[in-house]
Amino acid sequence: MASSALANALARRNIHYGWVVVAVTFLTMLVTAGAMGSPGVMIVPLEREFGWENSQISTALALRILLFGVFGPFAAAFMNQYGVRRVVVCALALIAAGFLASLGMTRVWQLVLLWGVVIGFGTGLTAIVLAATVATRWFTQRRGLVVGLLSASSATGQLVFLPLIAELTERFGWRMALVFVCGLLALAALAAAALMRDRPSDLDLPPYGETVVTPPPATSVGLASLLLVPLTALRDAARVPLFWVLFATFFICGASTNGLIQTHFITLCSDYGLTAVSAGGYLGGHLSFGRGVGVDHQAFLEKPSEWVDALDAGSLEEATPTLAEAAGARVLLYRRGTQIYAVSDVCPHAAGPLHEGTVDADLCVTCPWHGSRFRLSDGRAVRGPASAPATVYQARVEHGRVQVRAV
Ligand code: FES
Repeated sequence: MASSALANALARRNIHYGWVVVAVTFLTMLVTAGAMGSPGVMIVPLEREFGWENSQISTALALRILLFGVFGPFAAAFMNQYGVRRVVVCALALIAAGFLASLGMTRVWQLVLLWGVVIGFGTGLTAIVLAATVATRWFTQRRGLVVGLLSASSATGQLVFLPLIAELTERFGWRMALVFVCGLLALAALAAAALMRDRPSDLDLPPYGETVVTPPPATSVGLASLLLVPLTALRDAARVPLFWVLFATFFICGASTNGLIQTHFITLCSDYGLTAVSAGGYLGGHLSFGRGVGVDHQAFLEKPSEWVDALDAGSLEEATPTLAEAAGARVLLYRRGTQIYAVSDVCPHAAGPLHEGTVDADLCVTCPWHGSRFRLSDGRAVRGPASAPATVYQARVEHGRVQVRAV
């Protein structure tokens, strides 16, 4: 067997086989962490392809996290009953099967079943309990180092694989990224099948730090009894206040890192990052240049800067908004006694015809389209929705003609 040959070869170099088991466990947890984090990358692609709501996808991911936590304590029972190697290989195969089956999913319930239940169960079996089991079975010295290394594998897995998975998703789609994840899981499963051993005694080795081979404990209790152990431990621990302090701190930590950041951070970046910028740019460009929303509609009009002819003075009736054309510019003329007011007839808001509006006692014209009010004396917008002032012209009467020029 490969593990026996490797153990002998390492023993000749004074290297304990426990480090190989740690390496395989590290790889397993590394890949599992990448697999755990990968759905967070795929929320947006799934929303786009299937039209699912973020909340629907999040339900599946929340279920996965719940089962990840719930099955963690029971993973030790399975390891005691069936052995670490079998449990690890089965867990990796289960996760890979869940991902592979999801390549053909079309319904939300399939997502919940595969990504929620199947992958939640599989990842729960390889959670931190695996690290603790390996550390206590294989090491009596350096346990802290081993647990620290294996605990770091989760963060490392996300650090290493998430950018890669995100890149694959971006370039080739979420299915190709999942195939990549399944390839990693298969690699870890092969390594576990070939090199993982349940206990040092399987290789006739003492645990690291010991000199005597410890025989495996007799397995006289059944799986049902083993599965009760976590519940009994929970009942006992619940009576100790310190347990609840630890529970609360771990709950907050898990909810924020796994629940919020791991699952939704990428979607959030997408919401506030490139996608939002692109969408905002498109929307802004379309609204500004396509629809002219928010644009001062007088801004690009030609305005005569010299005196130009506009209208026969005799035809400009008292207190009547009148449209005139002055060198191609549309101008609203309004006479009150001897005073003539002239402003651009094009409403800055959306180019409404101001001469069709009404002029009130305050000498403000109200646009007939959306009700913007402009003061005739200086063009100021005294009421929106227009935010830009109306262009004001000077007006005079020369030889019986009304003339205007832009101020
Ligand atoms: S076009 Fe004048 S208020 Fe909208």
